[in-house]
Amino acid sequence: MTATPTTATPTTPTPATPAQTTPALTTTTDRHLLSVADLGRAGIDDIMTLADSFKEVSERRIPKVPALRGKTVATLFFEASTRTRLSFETAAKRLSADVMSFSASSSSLEKGESLRDTVETIDAMGVDAMIVRHKSSGVPMRITSWTSASVINAGDGQHEHPTQALLDCYTIREALAARSGSGSRAGAGAEPPAGFAGLRIGIIGDIKHSRVARSNVLAFSALGADVVLVAPRTLLPPSLEGWPVEATAELDSVLPDLDVVYLLRIQAERAGQVLLPDLDEYHVRFGLTAERARRLSPQALVMHPGPMIRGVEIAPEAADLPSSLVTRQVRNGVFIRSAVLFHLLGASGPPAADAADDEKSGNA
Ligand code: NCD
Repeated sequence: MTATPTTATPTTPTPATPAQTTPALTTTTDRHLLSVADLGRAGIDDIMTLADSFKEVSERRIPKVPALRGKTVATLFFEASTRTRLSFETAAKRLSADVMSFSASSSSLEKGESLRDTVETIDAMGVDAMIVRHKSSGVPMRITSWTSASVINAGDGQHEHPTQALLDCYTIREALAARSGSGSRAGAGAEPPAGFAGLRIGIIGDIKHSRVARSNVLAFSALGADVVLVAPRTLLPPSLEGWPVEATAELDSVLPDLDVVYLLRIQAERAGQVLLPDLDEYHVRFGLTAERARRLSPQALVMHPGPMIRGVEIAPEAADLPSSLVTRQVRNGVFIRSAVLFHLLGASGPPAADAADDEKSGNA
């Protein structure tokens, strides 16, 4: 195989490294992706490098490679999703895998079938990967004992969402590279770091119930960034012991120093209760209002995993700023998920006729 997929498939990345700091419920394996801790710093870097190859593939006339031809990828979504499911399915199709799509609301779960029987039924059809989203933390890990397929966590309860963290790291890395490439470092305030080391990232909002926050704390800190969590006490976990972060409830005191402003939705569906008495008051204290957006450092990057609730965690004017990376995050998600699928499934034997197939499909 060649170093970049100009005619064939990307190179196989080096094996994943062991876990670093991790919240509970994680496992280290190179066959599944359940937590950012499964990758560690070297694994995150490997996936990002591999994603560069898939970004290049996306710029081709036919943005497709045969790397996973003959493999079947099943998406098992037991909870709502727009971008994550579509992103995984697009990624799998760009690698020429067959895609099987399971949706809980139209399945035999509705007739009372158990989760285990459902998983074993899908497994019996012969799938190579199961991409799982579930409202309960730990379900993707549980599923690994019911199938021989690779299991990828696409969001489990309030535990983790590793591919979201990977695409967020990739998006920040891309923005920093574009900035240093263009030489546009002018503007008020201190010059931001050129890499993750020393980068100050604020994660703002419902940290307590957010799997995105957990995965991103692991990923950003593994890469050397300083993470500050900003939330009211009720939206922070009861203990932050072992989390490599600072925490504050004073957004305005940290805002001017942030290189990345990462906003989170309030996860009302996970709390089982009304989390906040007044969303307008929340917007005033913790939202990226139009007025706060004007006070950001000119180099600050604005991010959100989606879905955004405009008027609560982010004002429409702030969501639409040129420095907002929200649609970039979505676009990069396809490259990252292609890299993850290739990393887990591709190394065991990409089809022999790659180059010839590429020629036929116009990618030579
Ligand atoms: C997030 C999720 O589902 O955890 N969305 C996503 O996958 N892009 C965040 C959220 O739902 O708020």
